Amino acid sequence: MKPYVILISGRGSNMEALLAAGLPGQCAAVISNRPAAAGLAAAAARGIATAVVDHRQYPTREAFDAALAEEIERHAPQLVLLAGFMRILTAGFVARFSGRLLNIHPSLLPAFPGVDTHAQALAAGVRIHGCSVHFVTPALDGGPIAAQAAVPVLAGDDEESLALRVLAAEHRLYPQVARWFLDGRLRLNDGRVQLAGEASSPAQLFVPSLD
Ligand code: GRF
Repeated sequence: MKPYVILISGRGSNMEALLAAGLPGQCAAVISNRPAAAGLAAAAARGIATAVVDHRQYPTREAFDAALAEEIERHAPQLVLLAGFMRILTAGFVARFSGRLLNIHPSLLPAFPGVDTHAQALAAGVRIHGCSVHFVTPALDGGPIAAQAAVPVLAGDDEESLALRVLAAEHRLYPQVARWFLDGRLRLNDGRVQLAGEASSPAQLFVPSLD
């Protein structure tokens, strides 16, 4: 079974969706930069090894990233999944895991990078919002997109209702993309995303409300 590692900072609902998906791999560890991350207990309850690399214990971003990379490498993962991991990673860290580092972001990138994406979407008045899974590069939320899920923005939506609709799509999209990767179908080739097998391109966009 191919080992993979999940990095979290908080609630861990995407982590739970990944763990519940029966992926063709083995989750070797869940690692958090925050000791109080609720997702740690959920992972432990499933019998998965957990670790904390607390960013506050390190004087620099580089020192934290080096410790984090060391903890990850202990598990020799073929895939590292950022699931609500709220730290900006250094270029050195990203290079070390290049091509096997994925992130989920709650917007249809390249729209609304950074934080408060649902508020940004409401302020912009977009009618379509969603989430993206992308390979991580040094550009914040800027790496090559592996797949996206779109949801409508409905009249009367507030940040909370929109976030819930997007989160439900995240929980479907991320396991799908992780499965592609672990099956050896998805890879980064010369900075471009390649998905082998079936009718690849349509599968990389899905619209849950229209399923
Ligand atoms: C998700 O919306 C994820 O896309 C974003 O942060 C949130 C984390 O939620 N990066 P959870 O910890 O997976 O529940």
